[in-house]
Amino acid sequence: MINNLPLVAPSILAADFSNLEKDINSTLEGGAKWIHCDIMDGHFVPNISYGPAIVEATKKSGQAFLDVHLMIYNPDQYISDFVKAGAGLISVHSEATPHIHRTVQLIKDEGIQAGVAVNPGTPLTVLSPILDEVQLVVLMSVNPGFGGQKFIESTIPRLLELKTMREERGLSFLIEIDGGVTTKNIENISRSGADVLVAGSSIFKADNISQRTAELIKKAKLGKSTLV
Ligand code: DX5
Ligand code: ZN
Repeated sequence: MINNLPLVAPSILAADFSNLEKDINSTLEGGAKWIHCDIMDGHFVPNISYGPAIVEATKKSGQAFLDVHLMIYNPDQYISDFVKAGAGLISVHSEATPHIHRTVQLIKDEGIQAGVAVNPGTPLTVLSPILDEVQLVVLMSVNPGFGGQKFIESTIPRLLELKTMREERGLSFLIEIDGGVTTKNIENISRSGADVLVAGSSIFKADNISQRTAELIKKAKLGKSTLV
């Protein structure tokens, strides 16, 4: 799927929406290839973000692959809207639907890639029946709902556990870490085996967005080169 891992995926949740195109293009100039879109419904998570219209605007703003993270109940109802808006991959939370297998199938039937996301308090065993079906697992490293939170350290052993599960099963899904990724911790997270690192406030609150993106990518690659 990707031959230039690890990737840094800027989350536009922290972007300036009145200058969205400019902010997105700055991340692309800095080397970003994916853009992460956080969709929050005010029910599954205690915050409302944006919907398909902003995803569509993001698609029009640059050449990035759109990684759409649904933090919503009833995801099945909205999948085709996000596909039409330009999603290249949609992740759904295992905690947000009683029918994760059906939802993942719906996403794949739309001809795009599927991911499954898990909250920091959810045991990884819930992933077992669905791992063969997905291209990405999103390990939340904060409790979802807000940008700018602190990285939860217990994510690192969970990342190592998930890597082992992947190896034992001979699978090739990517592992994405989402929340609290900064210039201080990205190298270590990457060293533990993350393939995709989402960064929101660290990128968009920086004085120079493109430089910050490039710095995070450089540190992520450095970490990967000394993988544990
Ligand atoms: C949290 C979102 C994250 C968030 C990351 O609910 O899923 O993608 O935007 O933002 P930072 O990097 O600021 O923690
Ligand atoms: Zn996210």
